[in-house]
Amino acid sequence: MLRCFGNALLLALLLSTRLVKAVYNDEAYTIDWQRENIGDYQWVTEVDDNTLLVVSSFDETSLLCWLNKSNGEILSRQPIKYKAVSLVATNDSQIVLKSERGELQAFELKHGFDLGPVLAESIQSNFVEDFSTISIQDKELKMTDKEHGDAKILINDLPTDTMFVKFYKNANESIELLLGTPSSQYYYYELENNTLSQKWARDESLTDVQAYTYASVNDDSAAKILSELNDEKKLDFWQAYLFRVQHNYRRLKGALIERRFSVGSFVKDLIADDDEHAVRQRDIKFGLLKYLIIATRKGKIAALNSITGEKVWEFESGFNDIIRLDSLKNNSELVVFTKSGPSLVLDTSHIGAVPSIKRNQVVVPSTDIERLGDSDDFYVRTEQGFRVILRGDGEIHNNETYLLDHDKHGLNAFIIEKGDLKESWKLDLKPNEEIIAFAARDSDPSVSLGNILGNRTVLYKYLYPHLASYAIADRSVGSLSVHLVDTITGELLYTSYYEDGVNFNLPVNILFGEYWFIYTYFSSEPIPEQKISVVELYESLEPNTRVSNSSEVASALSNTMKPQIVTKAYFYPEVIKNMVLSKTKFGITTKAIILELENGQITYLPKYLLSARRREESQMSNDDKKEFMAAPYLSGIPINDHAIISHYRSLLMGSNSMLFSIPTNLESTSIVCNFGHDIFCTRISPSSQFDKLSPSFEKGKLISTILGLLFLCYFIRPLVDTKKLKSQWHVKG
Ligand SMILES: *[C@@H]1O[C@H](CO)[C@@H](O)[C@H](O)[C@H]1NC(C)=O
Ligand SMILES: *[C@@H]1O[C@H](CO)[C@@H](O)[C@H](O)[C@H]1NC(C)=O
Ligand SMILES: *[C@@H]1O[C@H](CO)[C@@H](O)[C@H](O)[C@H]1NC(C)=O
Ligand SMILES: *[C@@H]1O[C@H](CO)[C@@H](O)[C@H](O)[C@H]1NC(C)=O
Ligand SMILES: *[C@@H]1O[C@H](CO)[C@@H](O)[C@H](O)[C@H]1NC(C)=O
Ligand SMILES: *[C@@H]1O[C@H](CO)[C@@H](O)[C@H](O)[C@H]1NC(C)=O
Ligand SMILES: *[C@@H]1O[C@H](CO)[C@@H](O)[C@H](O)[C@H]1NC(C)=O
Ligand SMILES: *[C@@H]1O[C@H](CO)[C@@H](O)[C@H](O)[C@H]1NC(C)=O
Repeated sequence: MLRCFGNALLLALLLSTRLVKAVYNDEAYTIDWQRENIGDYQWVTEVDDNTLLVVSSFDETSLLCWLNKSNGEILSRQPIKYKAVSLVATNDSQIVLKSERGELQAFELKHGFDLGPVLAESIQSNFVEDFSTISIQDKELKMTDKEHGDAKILINDLPTDTMFVKFYKNANESIELLLGTPSSQYYYYELENNTLSQKWARDESLTDVQAYTYASVNDDSAAKILSELNDEKKLDFWQAYLFRVQHNYRRLKGALIERRFSVGSFVKDLIADDDEHAVRQRDIKFGLLKYLIIATRKGKIAALNSITGEKVWEFESGFNDIIRLDSLKNNSELVVFTKSGPSLVLDTSHIGAVPSIKRNQVVVPSTDIERLGDSDDFYVRTEQGFRVILRGDGEIHNNETYLLDHDKHGLNAFIIEKGDLKESWKLDLKPNEEIIAFAARDSDPSVSLGNILGNRTVLYKYLYPHLASYAIADRSVGSLSVHLVDTITGELLYTSYYEDGVNFNLPVNILFGEYWFIYTYFSSEPIPEQKISVVELYESLEPNTRVSNSSEVASALSNTMKPQIVTKAYFYPEVIKNMVLSKTKFGITTKAIILELENGQITYLPKYLLSARRREESQMSNDDKKEFMAAPYLSGIPINDHAIISHYRSLLMGSNSMLFSIPTNLESTSIVCNFGHDIFCTRISPSSQFDKLSPSFEKGKLISTILGLLFLCYFIRPLVDTKKLKSQWHVKG
């Protein structure tokens, strides 16, 4: 019977996996979310009976945004090249804005096409915001009748006292009204049955993220499993086995008691889809649920649910120059730093609830604050250019810590000894030079020492951890140089130099992974093109040659081993704005390079595509082609439509956008977020979701197949036995 059951299970598994059509669903628009923001409304005008046009500020320029009057949804957004200082005139086909330089610019009213400059004489300024008949006081909105002069209360339950009118239309017995608050909430009212009633509201308060951090939700079940495993470790083999059996028996009994011994409800629960609570528990267990904590330019601090994008809580800090947020002490404290000095410590021990202020403190006015590893200590560069260590209340480590700081003008390396900073080396640039990109080596642990080639030989990676690379721009001659430096000794290990018309108005990025770094720049010669270069560092380019000694701990101060270097350059069809490495829990999953493009899309490239060892096909031996994911060298890297993780969304992030990746408890999956004017988050699985069954995995079918087969076994087995018996009798007899 047992064997029969085993066979049945195997068959059922085979059958059911064949029945499942696609285990890995396309999860577009279900795992990603975006908060599309407009920002602070400057002027609002009407396009037609169903559409409003809002002019708002976006970075250093302005944004045109079309809203659906009936539900407040954004129909489209169009950034323009100028900062508008006033809206001069509109008619039913165009809108005229005055730019900071005093020029008048016309835009098509329906789609925002730039119609070019217009002469002041040729238009009549007709846009007036006359809200004198409306007064707001004590959460009441009164409207004065022009003819009779008597005021009538139209709304008596406004959300706050301090509201202002952004748009008002009173025509043909209908009134339309858009009100705003200083905290960037907007409310739209329409006259219905002689009272103004609110039709929709928009929350624009989470625009322009300046700083972020995140907090994970503690998973109690993981701790429980861990303690069980620890208990088991102490027992010998049979006792541990008995412990496990008893434990599982207790769990089964518990589950049966919970369902009042009803087998029906047990089976139903097995087959039914998970309810909300179970889904939440699963998201916590898989580490998909994080609280993303953001601080906006206007000083609002808010926590967002990483799965849905919902606002969990918000907190007005009252600051307008927040530069850093950090979650300390097991996520129980949130520290907020500002440029001008004042700082706050919030109590976030209940991460789902609005935090309370734990401490107010004052730090020196600073230009940059960095956390030192996982400690509570911070490194601060003050406005006057001094550097200090801000000590948390953790204990002082006697260990020496090495630190490399960089700014536009050079590099400064320090040793932190007993909490004090001592300069160890520095690099000052020439006056016309500037550091425009910097990346230190990724600190995630390495999972393998070498790359296995097609003929089963190994190329050893150069895994010395204290490395950084930086790019220097010399605008006077238009050259770009990229350097690799040992952060402890300051020794220069590699330099490359470009003079091919590098465009310094477009971003230059560097990303430093395990044993490689990648830099991107845009140059105009021989043809204007986005370039990606990759540099890989090996102990030796001879396969199977290891230079480092595995039985010896090397000292960083006397590291004489130099890397051997391979490089390759590629073209990319779009301008790259920002670049980060995907982070996973153990770093086993193939690394992906996540790219934010200048056109507002986000995509990713697996690292093996950007390999420095790709060669032209004619030069590849048969063995070379057997290497994992080996591909012949092609200079252009195409954009793969399937790798565009922002799908059809248009992200407006502005110039200070922040792109980052957060590991989850699933090794395959990483959360990717992009913050700026908008907020966007999604999840990626660069090596597919090898550790997760899709929610559509048909467990109902699997279970019913098993039951069916068991049933068959139960009935057919005796039949076969009787038949065998009969035939034996027949032969013998
Ligand atoms: C505006 O919203 C209404 C109500 O949801 C909808 O019926 C209408 O189609 C929307 N208009 C546009 C242009 O999307
Ligand atoms: C209004 O519309 C006409 C064309 O219909 C156009 O020539 C004129 O310049 C427009 N603009 C303003 C602000 O009057
Ligand atoms: C005013 O509204 C009525 C009915 O709602 C409509 O028949 C009439 O055309 C409107 N007049 C104008 C000028 O829009
Ligand atoms: C307005 O009046 C109509 C008919 O009298 C009614 O059906 C509707 O519910 C009213 N609307 C509001 C918002 O009170
Ligand atoms: C963090 O919290 C977890 C669970 O609440 C606890 O087990 C762990 O000891 C805490 N760590 C620190 C450093 O307080
Ligand atoms: C720091 O020093 C202590 C002893 O002084 C040692 O136990 C610990 O491992 C050191 N930590 C690191 C990260 O080197
Ligand atoms: C293995 O392949 C590498 C790369 O093509 C080559 O350099 C090396 O000589 C080969 N080793 C052997 C033993 O064939
Ligand atoms: C590695 O270090 C050990 C201990 O210092 C030494 O005995 C051994 O010879 C070294 N091996 C190599 C290949 O240098």
